[in-house]
Amino acid sequence: MRFSTGSLLSLSLAGLPVAQAINHLVSVGKGGELKFQPENLVAKQGDTVTYEFYAKNHSVTQSSFSEPCKPLANGFFSAFVPSQSQDTAAPTRFTITLEDVSKPIWVYCGQTNGNHCQKGMVHSINAPDTGDKTLQAFKDLAKDAPTSTSPADGLPAPGAFRGVRTIDVEVGKDGKLEFQPNNILEPPNTLVKFHFNPKNHSVVQSTFDTPCKSFQEGFSSGHIPVANSPSGVTFQFTIPDRKPFWFYCAQTNGDHCQKGMVGAINAPAEGDKTLEKYIAKAKAASAPSTIEPFAPLVGEVFVNGTEREKFGGNVLPSNGAGNVQPPASTVAGSPDATRTAFPGASQTLPSGPDAGEYFENIAGGGKPKHWGWADKMTGDAVDFLQLHLRIEDLLAHLLWEAYSRLEVGGVWHEQYPPTIVDAIGAWTGQSVVHMATTYTCLVHYNNKALDSCKWKLPLDNVNTFLNAFNRINLAQIGAMIDISSSIAAADPFIVPILLTQVGSKSRAAGVVNMMQSHSASISPREIALPAPLAWSFILANYVESCPQGLKIDGLPDKPWPVLNVPSTKVENNVTVSITLQYEGSQKDYKLAWIGPWGDLEFSDIDNDTKVVPVPKGWTGDVFIAVVKKKDMLLGELAANMVAGPNQVWL
Ligand SMILES: *[C@@H]1O[C@H](CO)[C@@H](O)[C@H](O)[C@H]1NC(C)=O
Ligand SMILES: *[C@@H]1O[C@H](CO)[C@@H](O)[C@H](O)[C@H]1NC(C)=O
Ligand SMILES: *[C@@H]1O[C@H](CO)[C@@H](O)[C@H](O)[C@H]1NC(C)=O
Ligand SMILES: *[C@@H]1O[C@H](CO)[C@@H](O)[C@H](O)[C@H]1NC(C)=O
Ligand SMILES: *[C@@H]1O[C@H](CO)[C@@H](O)[C@H](O)[C@H]1NC(C)=O
Repeated sequence: MRFSTGSLLSLSLAGLPVAQAINHLVSVGKGGELKFQPENLVAKQGDTVTYEFYAKNHSVTQSSFSEPCKPLANGFFSAFVPSQSQDTAAPTRFTITLEDVSKPIWVYCGQTNGNHCQKGMVHSINAPDTGDKTLQAFKDLAKDAPTSTSPADGLPAPGAFRGVRTIDVEVGKDGKLEFQPNNILEPPNTLVKFHFNPKNHSVVQSTFDTPCKSFQEGFSSGHIPVANSPSGVTFQFTIPDRKPFWFYCAQTNGDHCQKGMVGAINAPAEGDKTLEKYIAKAKAASAPSTIEPFAPLVGEVFVNGTEREKFGGNVLPSNGAGNVQPPASTVAGSPDATRTAFPGASQTLPSGPDAGEYFENIAGGGKPKHWGWADKMTGDAVDFLQLHLRIEDLLAHLLWEAYSRLEVGGVWHEQYPPTIVDAIGAWTGQSVVHMATTYTCLVHYNNKALDSCKWKLPLDNVNTFLNAFNRINLAQIGAMIDISSSIAAADPFIVPILLTQVGSKSRAAGVVNMMQSHSASISPREIALPAPLAWSFILANYVESCPQGLKIDGLPDKPWPVLNVPSTKVENNVTVSITLQYEGSQKDYKLAWIGPWGDLEFSDIDNDTKVVPVPKGWTGDVFIAVVKKKDMLLGELAANMVAGPNQVWL
């Protein structure tokens, strides 16, 4: 038997060596000296270099060797960083990434007030120790160079080494209700990085005139409660232009904004719109502060360097993922009736309008935009869609729980490679979109969705999850093929919708086959499984309790007796027979083999050993059921069930 519950991907990718890139620190003007320290840095490809600035007002500007005090075309430039302290680095830093170390890199400070470059304030990376292009030779050239120049626009430029100018802002450091610094004076292209400290702060943009009130086009981090300092959680964005930006903390518990927890980017130093005047306005502003319901807006939230996935203006609601929580206002309430009543909302799946938007984003698309609605939908179709919705609800819950665990900070984080985690996120989103689609179809014809069941989710580890997902997904595909054929004649408009969904589920099943180290090409994934059998399979394995209400002909309200397969016999990699175990001693039952393309075959079950030979050509995932007689159609199985169904890998 080729089945392996282990995931090859998870095993082979754990323990890959991580490239050892180093971040080097270079101080610029420390101790009041006109000097870079170290003057020549030795670094290798992939390393990063962060320049830290001290008094007075320096720049890090790339030049050529031969023209030391003149910017290199397409070179990097930090722009000027005025700084007060000779011993404490300014919050503004400049970082480059060494993507090409085949040639030395030459750098100078472009300050003309005091002729820094000519006075030897130059720097190199990987300058040779000997020959005619040493750091000393560069310095000698600088001494006689004409007055320094800088890029004309004065703005930080990344150059070929992707230089980034960053300012670090502490939010609520040491329990104080303040931004540190609160008066940010930085040119456009600077990345502003807000670092969150306990308790539960936010960074929200307002206008000058209405402090403590958010506005839609502004930036917002959302509420970010963290427990530790440093927390590793940042909100960041790049300053787009020279206009002033005004911001505040929107925490209403303690009225942070009204207590002066506000700040500005590029506020004028004088006139009627200074930071001092904004602070005064905030202190006089009426409580409560407001915040946009979605976050983050404009910027991004990072947790220890990894961006929190953001969809539709909302970070992924956390579930065991660090201590970042979704804004509370985003998980409840919805103006959209088709979503407030969304089945599954009662359990752990997020709901609400932006949850819908979030899932559509990870799914890669939403519900159909154009429905070929018929005048009515038949009662059979309604019942079948209720069944579809229930099984989909199970899939969505299972996937969501797994995805939450696989995310950064989750208990299964790094058990699968990121591409697989993304795929599982996409399946989660697709599952929710499929539910929404079916739900919309039901309510369009004035039907209410039945309440969801309480599910048993096998989430002991990634393998039990993957195995369960594979089984439920195949059962759902089977049921959908059956449902599609059952409703094709009377309700044809639903068929393309359902078959499209089958397509996405089949793709997921293919990936699962691969993860379970099955050969995908020989693994049938589209098994026409009569809906009653699919439901019995779900009931037997994954349901804790369900409200009544499904009225499909032949649909059991409790599962048929369990059918187990305690052993299989494999010869030359081919499963030749399986042994069954089920209640009951009546002789001469048959085994139904239910396969792809609506394939159905029957075998005799050995009366004593309960061993059944596998029919020729049956491989991969198939469903089996013990039935009372041979030679039936798929639609007759439900009325002749003895035990099962179960799924086997041949
Ligand atoms: C810093 O130096 C630059 C270049 O000389 C100058 O344009 C800028 O005004 C200076 N900034 C401050 C705050 O002195
Ligand atoms: C953070 O603050 C917001 C706004 O007051 C509140 O809704 C949310 O529940 C808080 N979160 C935590 C974990 O305290
Ligand atoms: C970020 O990493 C630090 C150090 O490993 C850890 O203490 C902190 O909890 C992490 N932050 C989050 C939000 O997971
Ligand atoms: C069974 O499959 C394994 C792995 O694909 C292969 O190495 C082996 O040769 C196969 N054995 C036979 C008898 O085909
Ligand atoms: C099982 O027993 C029944 C009735 O006793 C008999 O007709 C049938 O041939 C037996 N089947 C097998 C596979 O032995």
